[in-house]
Amino acid sequence: MTVELRQEQRTMLWTLAMHAHDAASAHPILGDGFAADLLDRVDEPPDHGVSLGGSTPLVCTRAKLIDDAARAFLAAHDEAVVLHLGCGLDSRVLRLDPGPGVRWFDVDQEPVIELRRQLYDEREGATTIAASVTDPTWWSEVPDDLPRLVLAEGLLMYLDPEGVHTAVTSALSPGGTLVADTVAPWVTRVAGWQPAMWAADTGFGSSTADLVAALPPGARREETSLVDATATRTGGVLSTAVRLFALVPGGRDAMVLSTSSTGSSSGG
Ligand SMILES: C[S@@+](CC[C@H](N)C(=O)[O-])C[C@H]1O[C@@H](n2cnc3c(N)ncnc32)[C@H](O)[C@@H]1O
Repeated sequence: MTVELRQEQRTMLWTLAMHAHDAASAHPILGDGFAADLLDRVDEPPDHGVSLGGSTPLVCTRAKLIDDAARAFLAAHDEAVVLHLGCGLDSRVLRLDPGPGVRWFDVDQEPVIELRRQLYDEREGATTIAASVTDPTWWSEVPDDLPRLVLAEGLLMYLDPEGVHTAVTSALSPGGTLVADTVAPWVTRVAGWQPAMWAADTGFGSSTADLVAALPPGARREETSLVDATATRTGGVLSTAVRLFALVPGGRDAMVLSTSSTGSSSGG
């Protein structure tokens, strides 16, 4: 690897490692068959304090639910645009293998996209964009005359409220659907205390309330607790612990997945 990743850019190595860890387990939640090979080729030591065991079920449940939402969208739309914001090195485009009528955009910051271009073969219909999602200018490269699905996984919490506002309004204009996870305000406050976040000198800057505040008037939003969803996808002691955590005030909403849409889409 020849690029230098800093702060929140490093966190995509953690999710990749968790996908590989899950895929190697006896009962994978996501079953990402590409992650281990990508991780091997990155050749970067894991960051101090990354908890593969503890966070893997939640992260892989999140990815699984987003894959399922995207599969349902692609099944309904042969011709469409999919934007994968803050894509990191995630292999979603390979896992979903969209058809020839789908224009797929993987978007992340410059060093991450540079690394992604080293590791992934070019693919017909797929484009990588090296840009911040808080920069409204590059969105004009994206066709606006097709049903649109925007995926933002493990991303919005790293932005400040103003950045969330720009990303969400750009994502939902001129219409379409945004699937994005966010965290409760108390998680935003404590996230930076985790050893890995501390070591990477990063933290969270927004919460679910900032997504809600950024939605255009009339937008619809459905919310799923990723804590509950994780409990149903794990077993034994872990599942019990997650179920108990969901009963603690603020537990169930600690991380949620929102599907937000506006009515003005061309079919999305
Ligand atoms: C936790 S990782 C998630 C990566 C991927 N979505 C996954 O689940 O494996 C967060 C990603 O968000 C990206 N990111 C953070 N802020 C960003 C911004 N302003 N614009 C674009 N990408 C951003 C980081 O570079 C990183 O790749």
